[in-house]
Amino acid sequence: MKLSKLLVAAAATMLASGSMFAHKTTPDWIRSAVFYDIYPCSFMDSDGNGIGDLPGITSKLDYVKSLGVDAIWMNPIFESGWFDGGYDIKDYFNIDPRFGTKTDLKNLVDEAHKRGLKVCLDLVPGHSSNQHQWFRKAATEGKDGRYADYYIFVDSISDKDKKDIEKRYKTPNPQDSKLGLWVPTKEANPGEPKDGKYTGEYYYRNYYPCQPALNFGYANPDPSKPWQQPVDAPGPKAVRRELKNIMAYWFDLGVDGFRVDMAASLVKNDKDKKETQKLWNEMREWIDREYPGKVLISEWGNPSQSCPAGFDCDFLLIHRSPGFKQITRGTSPGKSVGKDAYFEKTGIGAYDKFVEEFNKQYLASKDYGYISLFSANHDINRLNSEGRDTPDQIKTFMTWLLTMPGVPFIHFGDEIMMRNVKGLPSVEGSREERSGTRTPMQWDNTKNAGFSTAAPEKLFLPVFTDGGKLTVATQEQDPNSVLNHVRRVNKVRHDHPTLGNLGDWVTVSDMSKPYPWIYTRTSAEGTYVVALNPGGKAVKATVELPEGKLDCLLSDGKTSVKTTKKGTQFSLGGCSSAIYKVVK
Ligand code: GLC
Repeated sequence: MKLSKLLVAAAATMLASGSMFAHKTTPDWIRSAVFYDIYPCSFMDSDGNGIGDLPGITSKLDYVKSLGVDAIWMNPIFESGWFDGGYDIKDYFNIDPRFGTKTDLKNLVDEAHKRGLKVCLDLVPGHSSNQHQWFRKAATEGKDGRYADYYIFVDSISDKDKKDIEKRYKTPNPQDSKLGLWVPTKEANPGEPKDGKYTGEYYYRNYYPCQPALNFGYANPDPSKPWQQPVDAPGPKAVRRELKNIMAYWFDLGVDGFRVDMAASLVKNDKDKKETQKLWNEMREWIDREYPGKVLISEWGNPSQSCPAGFDCDFLLIHRSPGFKQITRGTSPGKSVGKDAYFEKTGIGAYDKFVEEFNKQYLASKDYGYISLFSANHDINRLNSEGRDTPDQIKTFMTWLLTMPGVPFIHFGDEIMMRNVKGLPSVEGSREERSGTRTPMQWDNTKNAGFSTAAPEKLFLPVFTDGGKLTVATQEQDPNSVLNHVRRVNKVRHDHPTLGNLGDWVTVSDMSKPYPWIYTRTSAEGTYVVALNPGGKAVKATVELPEGKLDCLLSDGKTSVKTTKKGTQFSLGGCSSAIYKVVK
């Protein structure tokens, strides 16, 4: 074993046995990282065409750095058919012309690195666009063609599947519809088939119909269904090699890792995800050997499965996580924020399910990687949604997000409280509900909020500054703005690593009286206390804490503590939060 590998192994053992925890190859930086996610179409437009681009992002790196974050994740920037916001990739090795060139990406990465920021791209392994050359060749060059087994084709489908396809044609935008897992190959217009017949009349989709599933094979393939190839058949093996080629290509350019789209979706019929885990373990071993220190962050939604499979971080996804849903959405259906979300000023929510679920996931994943919680993302409503619409509410949420174990993600614009906008059109497959979280960044009070010099009707999506209040320029001036609060909490998290991933996390308040929520973060370095009251009314609670004086590290001035015979009494004003250190 090489010395560097021995050191990594020794560090991993130390971490796993102490209160710190990490994946065996996890680089140091991710352990304390806070991420900022950027939807590239919406961040900064440098050439005045109304759509954000890479030089635009590069020009704003000083701002990103000023937030106190450590890394950025950008949604896909590769050549795309633009039927699903860049997630329908036509060429994995090319930057989409709307964003710039490889040189622009290299420049962005270099400039980020100069500032101590890491850069992760989005890897979309589960499907390509049906306009990708692989797919066009696969569909038209016959069963013996080089790419035939890169996708899953069949010649006939069940009557039910046929009915689904018919229903899909009746929806306003058949590309957006999820009906029917099989898509008629002719719909993709892949070109003239070589022998007058497509390789298969239908292909299997992974998400939208424009996104044919790449073939990583089936777990337990049914021999009577020949399209169900084993994971080690030549087609699925070739696709694995392509996946490595794609990662290697961008690692060679200098990127630090990938957020991996629909990471759990690769092997089909894989109920317990064992084969999908094996696949990612193979990728992880390869990365450790060839590109040590690079990170993989999964959109999987189950850290207990994904982190042991080799991911450094995994998102808790709201639709798969009743606990995360409980605190951010409540019992409300779909994507809206219910009045009983815990982070709502109504003060009628609860956090018990979240605590139970988080602890379970945390214990099962902590020796391998980190749980990623987030403020929002390009698919999920912004924090400033419906009733959650005052600076104090957003600040309370940010105090929580940035004092939890794991690797937190801030959605661009949530740090200035950008509003989730309703009623926008579906743009490039966004569907109305996702458009609202993808509107352009609001920089200042000039034309188009400083995002672009284009005519307003040319903008990717409209801007909403709410009378100029919700811009970076305005909030820079106000020491109490959400923006400056986020900077302060990030600083406290970094100055006191116990609040990041060094410390244990224990809820000390009474879960049956959920307002306020008080938890401790403890390591050999000390104990910290975080007190949160997302509700609109003032509340009090008395809890037992380790002995010592409470030093206030951050407060919005609405919180006080005193020692009583029963313990430490916290008084929190409506929508407020504070962080303390216990000093012996
Ligand atoms: C992920 C992405 C989403 C995309 C889908 C298909 O969920 O976050 O935006 O539409 O995968 O790639």
